[in-house]
Amino acid sequence: MRLENKAAIITGASSGMGAAIAQLFAKEGASVVAIARRKERLQNLIDRINADGGKAVAVAGDVTIEADVRNAVKTAVQQFGRLDIVVNNAGLLDRFVPVAELDDDLWNAVLDVNLTGPMRMFRAAIPEMEKTGGGSFVTIASVGGLHGCRAGPAYTASKHGVIGLAKNVAYMYTGKGIRSNIIAPGGVKTEIGAGQQANEAGAAICMTGMCVNPRMGEADEIASVALFLASDEASFVNGAIVVADAGWTAY
Ligand SMILES: NC(=O)c1ccc[n+]([C@@H]2O[C@H](COP(=O)([O-])OP(=O)(O)OC[C@H]3O[C@@H](n4cnc5c(N)ncnc54)[C@H](O)[C@@H]3O)[C@@H](O)[C@H]2O)c1
Repeated sequence: MRLENKAAIITGASSGMGAAIAQLFAKEGASVVAIARRKERLQNLIDRINADGGKAVAVAGDVTIEADVRNAVKTAVQQFGRLDIVVNNAGLLDRFVPVAELDDDLWNAVLDVNLTGPMRMFRAAIPEMEKTGGGSFVTIASVGGLHGCRAGPAYTASKHGVIGLAKNVAYMYTGKGIRSNIIAPGGVKTEIGAGQQANEAGAAICMTGMCVNPRMGEADEIASVALFLASDEASFVNGAIVVADAGWTAY
């Protein structure tokens, strides 16, 4: 029970890594506030967690909407009396659209979810963490935040940006007992690309390096890294980027 007596918010929790993180955190004793746009799907997850003896509540919400983010923080404090952990997980791909073909709508949509969303969450959560003497953020970035062409330009820029944001928080608030770490996953089997019409030429260029990717990961393999970073076992780890990619970027 590595997260006993802790309250955690997980964004984008209705599928993929977010759902895996919510389930694992609840199993480890955390009281979970799961925020996602698809309320029905989210509720199924919450029901499963509660049936297994965990504690979780669903907040229907969008990380691009300030009031929804604030509502998630308020829910954690009202329901569980505190906020100790936030996992910035919600994310959006950019369909590999090369910059010369990129329109402002796609650029803004990707930046709004992947970069401004975590900023809203840091801004709303930090004052609550300060009240209890600290907390821990885990931001799910990507190897696309460390390398130039694992995705299109909007996704790549958003993930580079969110790494800088999370590292800034790490140092700026270390004196307040707040830690902020980053996970950079490689390719993981989730729904992130489902139903998207990829730009064929852009995707072909971005996929060049897939031949040296040892394998795709499972959402659970990211959840276990998030658990370590969120827990007190990582008390001396702050501002770190943990790459979880089966060695893909080690090539
Ligand atoms: N799957 C991969 O290969 C991979 C690799 C590296 C990083 N990532 C990152 O991991 C994170 C989780 O993605 P995943 O792979 O589990 O995919 P996923 O699509 O299963 O999960 C992403 C979740 O974010 C939610 N979301 C999107 N926009 C939102 C918004 N505005 N407000 C609230 N929720 C929103 C989606 O509904 C979804 O539930 C993302 O940040 C993604 O960029 C994924």
